[in-house]
Amino acid sequence: MRIFDTTLRDGEQTPGVSLSLEEKLGIAKQLDKLGIDIMEAGFPIASAGEKEAVSGIVKAGLDAQICGLSRVIKADIDACLDCDVGMVHTFVSTSDVQRIHTIGKSREEVVDLAVDAVQYIKDHGRACMFSAMDATRTDVDYLIDICKRVEEAGCDIINVPDTVGVMVPSAMYRLIEEIKRSVSLPLDVHCHNDYGLAVANSIAAVEAGASQVQVTINGLGERAGNADLAETVMILHTIHGARTNIKTEYLFETSRMVEKYTGVRVSQLMPVVGENAFAHESGIHTHGVLVCTDTFEPGVMTPEMVGQKRRIVLGKHAGKHAVK
Ligand code: KIV
Ligand code: ZN
Repeated sequence: MRIFDTTLRDGEQTPGVSLSLEEKLGIAKQLDKLGIDIMEAGFPIASAGEKEAVSGIVKAGLDAQICGLSRVIKADIDACLDCDVGMVHTFVSTSDVQRIHTIGKSREEVVDLAVDAVQYIKDHGRACMFSAMDATRTDVDYLIDICKRVEEAGCDIINVPDTVGVMVPSAMYRLIEEIKRSVSLPLDVHCHNDYGLAVANSIAAVEAGASQVQVTINGLGERAGNADLAETVMILHTIHGARTNIKTEYLFETSRMVEKYTGVRVSQLMPVVGENAFAHESGIHTHGVLVCTDTFEPGVMTPEMVGQKRRIVLGKHAGKHAVK
């Protein structure tokens, strides 16, 4: 299972977040230490500073593959090529609502733009990922058609974005299953968290055969954010028995570094990396955990595995065992 991190692109689109070049580079190095397979370093056409940051990350010589984002526009792709990224992630809106109201193109025109962009990227010898933006609100026959057309054009991987987070896990499972029946390319998913289901939908996509998931540190991203890396990876490792290259012991420190640089506070209740994720207060729980930690923790996921510490908190509900 491949982990595609988009903290430095979709994550930076979190309202109020703006990272300096040094901060982006620092996060990139930390993501590399964490073991992600590929990072979306930014959207180079967006500004000169963004282009400089993406180039700087490429030059850092990290182990992770570096990807740049582009619309299906040559100037965007050229900006990615100028940064010398290994992969170009090109996207276009495919749902009627976005296609009509944002780009004003017909379905056929969108297919042509997508095919031309993929061919252009492949002609320049780069890996190519195609995203059908708003895939989950796109007519399924049309979605499958555009996926087949980019496959024929030489695309390497297809991303299925749940751009406005409207899926539920059962629907995500069925959609990925259906696309897989018609397209042989590896599938990736990019789930937004508008209903709090981004991680659940990403996991459902994996269950249906997706081989890559897009995630961010602390679930950062547009509106309610994207699927959180730590939660997604820990579910994959400890509940599904799947393997990724993530060194989970660095999850906590990575979360805190990104919290510091972005200024977006991590809730104490956040799974895996939240301050309370392994904290126990009530008498019954504390007594149980002091005897055997599995009594009131998942057991398969321990604080040590994610770089956290277990805490016994003396509060209103504490009992004599905790005090002792
Ligand atoms: O949410 C989305 O659809 C995106 C695309 C650029 C993949 O961020
Ligand atoms: Zn997104």
